[in-house]
Formats: sequence, structure tokens, C-alpha cells
Amino acid sequence: MTDDNIDPVAIVTGAAGDIGAAIVARLSATHKVAAIDLDADALSAAVARLGVSGSKVTSIRCDLTKPDELARAADEAADLGPVNILVNNAGAARALSLHAMTMDTLSHDLSLNLEAALNCFKSFEKPLVESGSGNVVNIASVNGLSAFGHPAYSAAKAGLIHATKAIAVEYGKYGLRANAVAPGTVKTQAWKAREAANPGVFDEALSWYPFKLLPEPEDIAAAVAFLVSPAARCITGACLPVDSGLTAGSTALPRTFTQSADFDGS
Ligand SMILES: NC(=O)c1ccc[n+]([C@@H]2O[C@H](COP(=O)([O-])OP(=O)(O)OC[C@H]3O[C@@H](n4cnc5c(N)ncnc54)[C@H](O)[C@@H]3O)[C@@H](O)[C@H]2O)c1
Repeated sequence: MTDDNIDPVAIVTGAAGDIGAAIVARLSATHKVAAIDLDADALSAAVARLGVSGSKVTSIRCDLTKPDELARAADEAADLGPVNILVNNAGAARALSLHAMTMDTLSHDLSLNLEAALNCFKSFEKPLVESGSGNVVNIASVNGLSAFGHPAYSAAKAGLIHATKAIAVEYGKYGLRANAVAPGTVKTQAWKAREAANPGVFDEALSWYPFKLLPEPEDIAAAVAFLVSPAARCITGACLPVDSGLTAGSTALPRTFTQSADFDGS
């Protein structure tokens, strides 16, 4: 069990991104946070913007797809104290469609979104088990639940949701819980190119959401904070969509299926 006098450590990957930074901010209330990212400059800028004490957040530069870098980062993070939370948040999509996919983009999307998350879990497996109450949260996507484009990324996220269940089943005996969060459209750096190509992309996206509100990075962070909290002590192996109902069902199809005017204008 974790020594009560030592601050436990939470690992957050992709911490320079908007969602990662919001998760760092939430978890820094209860943990020392190891904020890991490939982009050192963006990481220091993101951590500075959070304005949390330097003793609460340690920035670690690492390309998670490189095993030697991951091993070094894991050693550095483990030196901070007993790790009891891992949030696998780093992720990105390159292949837009199966037709456009190449061996390189397929390999990138699987390597970052699935393999790196599992390698991260393996890197912190020992302290997570030793803590006796460890938590893994994998940031998946609505793309892991339905086909919305970016097929290689989506296959990796679907794999990540399965891996979450596998961890929950195999490691429950150590008091470890594993859950996934599946965000819908969140306006972050990841959308920059799409927003440049189509400034109306978020309004267009919103029209597909039953509940007319796109999630903010803080909504994803709130779901993570809930899942690692004692309030979720019997929740493991779950995938929690934070998607304003996008994966609950289509907004237009019920009109066709029922011919009821109750579904007009949805
Ligand atoms: N923004 C959305 O609409 C959305 C929707 C569903 C799921 N997600 C998921 O949420 C997570 C965060 O997304 P975001 O929108 O904040 O993205 P982002 O691009 O803003 O941030 C991702 C971060 O990951 C880092 N990263 C990329 N490759 C890395 C590597 N090899 N090693 C270490 N770090 C690396 C980047 O430097 C970046 O800081 C991702 O897993 C993403 O798939 C996002």
C-alpha cells in the first residue's frame, strides 16, 4: 500500500495537449503529476499556463513510441514517488480513410494509439500493482465505438477499449481498476488543420449531437477524476462516453423509422 506520508504520483501522457493539460490540472489537486509529452516546448508552455506549483507537476519529454525513451521516462517518473494512476491520453490520427491509408500512417496510428498505451501500462505495472488501489484510465474515442473516419486510429482506439477490459479482468485481484473514456468532438490543437480547412467544422459536428453541447477538455478531465475516485470504486472495465449522446443514436434516423414528428428538428 502507498505510504500515507508520501504524495502518490499520477502519470499523464500527451500532457501538452488541451485534454492532457486539463487532466494534469485536475489530478494535481490530489497527486504529484508526471506530465509526459513528445513536444518539450509545448509541454513547458502548457504546464506554465496551468499555474500549479512546480513541486506538483514534473515535465518529462518522451516519444512514447520509442521503447528506450519510454524506459527512461518511466524511471524518471517512478523516482517522484509511488505511482498509483496512469492516464494514457497521448493520441493522434494520420490516416483519414482506408483509401488514403499507407503502411506508414497505419503503423503510426496503431503504434501511438494502442501499442504506446499498452507499453506505458507495462512500464508502470509494478507500482500500480504494489499500490493496492491503482487506476488506469485510457483516453479512447467515440471512433473506437463506431465508424467515423480515421480508420487506423479508430481500430487502435477500439483495441484500447478492449485492452482496458483485459487489464480490468487480469489485474482486479490486485485492487487495480482500468477504465476508458471516449470523448466526442473536443476543440483542441488536434482540430487545427480541419478548422483551417473548414471554419464551420464545429457547428457542422454539433448538428450530429443529440445534446447540443460539444465537450470541453475539462469535461474529459472531470470524467477521469471521477473514474479514479472512490466514488467509482466498483467501476472497472467500463468505457464512459463523454460525447453529448453522439454514440447513443442517430438524431435523424428515428424520424424515418417511426415517421413520428416528435423527431423533427433534432
Ligand atoms: N480532441 C478530440 O476531439 C478528441 C476526440 C476523441 C478522443 N480524443 C483523444 O484525446 C486524447 C487527447 O487529444 P487532444 O485532442 O488533446 O490532442 P492534442 O493533439 O491536442 O494532444 C495530444 C498530445 O499528445 C502528444 N503526443 C503525440 N505523439 C506523442 C508521442 N509519440 N509521445 C508522446 N506524446 C505524444 C502531442 O505532442 C500532444 O501534446 C487523444 O488520445 C485523442 O485521441 C480527442
